Amino acid sequence: MPDHIAVLDFGSQYTQVIARRIREANVLSRIYPYNTQASVLKEAGVKGIILSGGPSSVLIEGSPRPDAKVFDMGLPMLGICYGEQLMAHMLGGRVGKSEEREFGHGTLNIAIKGKLFEGLPATLRVWNSHGDRIEELPAGFEAVASTENSPYATIQDAQRNFYGMQFHPEVAHSEMGTEVIANFLFKICGCESDWSMANYIEESVQKIKNTVGDQRVILGLSGGVDSSVAAALIHKAIGKQLTCVFVDNGLLRLHEREQVEKLYGDHFNLDVRVADKGKFFLDRLAGVSDPETKRKIIGNAFVEVFDESVTELKEHGNYAFLAQGTLYPDVIESIAIDGNPAALIKSHHNVGGLPEKMNLKLLEPLRELFKDEVRELGSQLGLPKEVVWRQPFPGPGLGVRVMGDIKEQDLVVLRKADAILQEEMMAADLYYKVWQSFCVFLPVKTVGVMGDERTYENVIALRIVESLDAMTADWARVPYDVLRKVSSRIINEVSGCNRVVLDISSKPPSTIEWE
Ligand code: XMP
Repeated sequence: MPDHIAVLDFGSQYTQVIARRIREANVLSRIYPYNTQASVLKEAGVKGIILSGGPSSVLIEGSPRPDAKVFDMGLPMLGICYGEQLMAHMLGGRVGKSEEREFGHGTLNIAIKGKLFEGLPATLRVWNSHGDRIEELPAGFEAVASTENSPYATIQDAQRNFYGMQFHPEVAHSEMGTEVIANFLFKICGCESDWSMANYIEESVQKIKNTVGDQRVILGLSGGVDSSVAAALIHKAIGKQLTCVFVDNGLLRLHEREQVEKLYGDHFNLDVRVADKGKFFLDRLAGVSDPETKRKIIGNAFVEVFDESVTELKEHGNYAFLAQGTLYPDVIESIAIDGNPAALIKSHHNVGGLPEKMNLKLLEPLRELFKDEVRELGSQLGLPKEVVWRQPFPGPGLGVRVMGDIKEQDLVVLRKADAILQEEMMAADLYYKVWQSFCVFLPVKTVGVMGDERTYENVIALRIVESLDAMTADWARVPYDVLRKVSSRIINEVSGCNRVVLDISSKPPSTIEWE
């Protein structure tokens, strides 16, 4: 393996964030189990070691420890939080329970800049989250920065290139944390900035090939960003050994199925099997108006249909893997500054019981990546902007955008109206600037007049929102001219709708979708 930084994982929820920060500096990193033997790291070509944070305490018997020999490898080391305490504890210092738990923002006063803080200001606002603290330094160490509660908020043994910090430089709330990590990588470990997403592709392709061998892989393709990028990456690795299943649930947008067939089938030459199940879904949904029941029916029907496709495929080939575009949970950057980021880390995509029942192994090549990295990866794999920067679309599709019970003729109206909205958002160069823009079909009839005739037709609501992470959202201030054009086009071109209204609610208290 080429030169890289080893991150020893002591169970911190931020371990993946450390790895991401290193990737951002264009340096290769690897996450290793905390107790990886020094000899293994040496063999692997490690240039520096980071000890992650973790939920445990060094004061507890049996809490996770690294192989003691890692301290004798002559490599630069950076201990973060629990990692710093480990360093102090294992090298002969003393760690104790802090009287005050330090949690949230603190001010770091830097007394000695050294290589770690080179080029940075003398004070930094940093993020802390710890109960223990260092009471006595090990031989050879000195304190280089302090906070109100920790005289040893940052320590170093410049001779051995050992550094420890109580705060978390990897989280977005730590001011200049990225620069601190970059100093460790470049000034202390002597890394080159020579890693890129192209290397990631190469490596992943190799890994997928090794894992899959001559077996075959099934992937549920939705056309969304994550499943599309996963499909493109796996296809690059194993070509026709990958089969994608696209479920047409009858709740898709205008021409969506044809677009998927054309792009992935014709252009990318993927083996895409379409499960044509619109009628099956709509029959199940007939007469059902409760939103939660609708979602459950759609979810269960999806599992059934997918399961059926898998069973059929397995009869004709040695399918052994189910691929999914699972991402590392997004760390929400836009959180209340003094809130606890732990509480705001989204949970993993729940893959439910699917693979167990199907007797397939999971293949998740995007697991380590964050959403924006996945978009970059997709671009590099040649996926068009329309896929890589596509707005989110809910799994239950238009099923939650026709209010109440779903009728085929209402879906037709909604599809046409929605296509007009997307066209105009694109034309006004707004589609990629908002989080989502879509139409909702309201089963409400109102009176209108067209020519000399009185009409009595349904209402379409426009929902256009700005958001960073879908947790909160605000209605987008779309110029009146654009709204006027959308409204007049929908009313003129879509029969079955004679009124368009605009949703001006924020989330909370409203949600983005109407159901
Ligand atoms: P709400 O309506 O809860 O939506 O504000 C937040 C975001 O999630 C999307 N959404 C879904 N996505 N399956 C999905 O895959 C669903 O059932 C679902 N419901 C909502 C919604 O479009 C918005 O981006």
